[in-house]
Amino acid sequence: MQRAAIANRMRDLGGDVVTNMFTVLDKADIISFAGGVPSPYALPVEQLQVLADEILATAGRQVLQYSTIDGYGPLREWIAQWVADRGIQATRDNVLVLSGGQQGIDLSAKVFLNPGDNVLLERPTYLAAITIFKAYEVGFRPVASDEQGIIPESLEEAILKYKPKMLYVVPTFQNPTGVTIPAERRKAIAEIAGKYGVIVVEDDPYALLRYDGDPIPSIASYDTAGVVIHVNSFSKIVSPGLRVGYAVAAPQIKDLLTQAKQTADFHTSNLSQRMIYEFCTRGMLEPHLATVRETYKAKRDAALRAMEKYFPEGVHWTHPDGGLFVWVTLPEHIDTGKLMATAAEHKVAFIPGTPFYFDDTGKNTMRINFSNADFEMLDEGLARLGDVIREAM
Ligand SMILES: Cc1ncc(COP(=O)(O)O)c(C=O)c1O
Repeated sequence: MQRAAIANRMRDLGGDVVTNMFTVLDKADIISFAGGVPSPYALPVEQLQVLADEILATAGRQVLQYSTIDGYGPLREWIAQWVADRGIQATRDNVLVLSGGQQGIDLSAKVFLNPGDNVLLERPTYLAAITIFKAYEVGFRPVASDEQGIIPESLEEAILKYKPKMLYVVPTFQNPTGVTIPAERRKAIAEIAGKYGVIVVEDDPYALLRYDGDPIPSIASYDTAGVVIHVNSFSKIVSPGLRVGYAVAAPQIKDLLTQAKQTADFHTSNLSQRMIYEFCTRGMLEPHLATVRETYKAKRDAALRAMEKYFPEGVHWTHPDGGLFVWVTLPEHIDTGKLMATAAEHKVAFIPGTPFYFDDTGKNTMRINFSNADFEMLDEGLARLGDVIREAM
């Protein structure tokens, strides 16, 4: 096929990093820190099996039929109550059930962005969000952040300079850095965005995977102007394969997202929605989350200990209070893209940092996922990675 035949929006998406990542994950003999996936042992298989059987037995003819676009009413109702824990005031009219949080980013872009519109992003940021925004042919503009995430003064400056339509932000245990934005900054972000009418896509799938410290209200909780779209997901806390996420937004925005969803997939799988609903309302979510948090906390600690033990001097990394990732910065002269090949020879994998930057920088950075490998593999894999880094120093 001629390259010219491909639509502009599909050129240079850079999605091959994600594809390659899953290819690496499939190779049994490689210890992979590349994915962002839950541990296979953190998936509540038995409980969901019982629920699926029961749902098909009692409501099979409903769940196997088409349904409403915005989702299963009782699930929307439950989500509206549940997000009060994050400080968000909502009713079911604010809630749209999504096929994963990924769809929330995509629909937000579809509803609000024309080609050439500017979007503000952190550097680095979630790589698959960059891919989505590329497909909408937008302008990528940076907003400065530090070890506490987006700096509010820089946000205002960037808004005045670039006149963006949208800010995309992962506020809690960010993918890829693990950084969390504190409450005062969240409030300031909501106020500044509200003042200038900039839509904020608050993508927050890791907020409930907290291992230390107290929960922080979401950016949406400070939104008085109705500009924040809180996008979230059951992927990291129950199962990514069920593909259930949700957006909470002002009713008018929720309705626009619903219209956009109609052309994407009509609605999220009824069976998946019901399974999530029953899982949450029968008191299975909290005990499950408690176990998952305990396991991941121990894995994070094991990963940080191993990095301390095996990584050479001159290498720096984040110490996240939750989530799934540690972000590693190597000396400037080391290109982690090139380091991948050596790492593969040592049977260890990570994601190089550059795909998390929309401007092709971050060559000396990498993302380490600590949730997927078991404890022995964590130690062994990070020892191997330490050797690989030392060789390159
Ligand atoms: C920051 C962030 N947003 C969104 C997603 C998409 O997740 P899902 O579509 O499974 O909810 C991910 C998955 O890794 C993520 O890390």
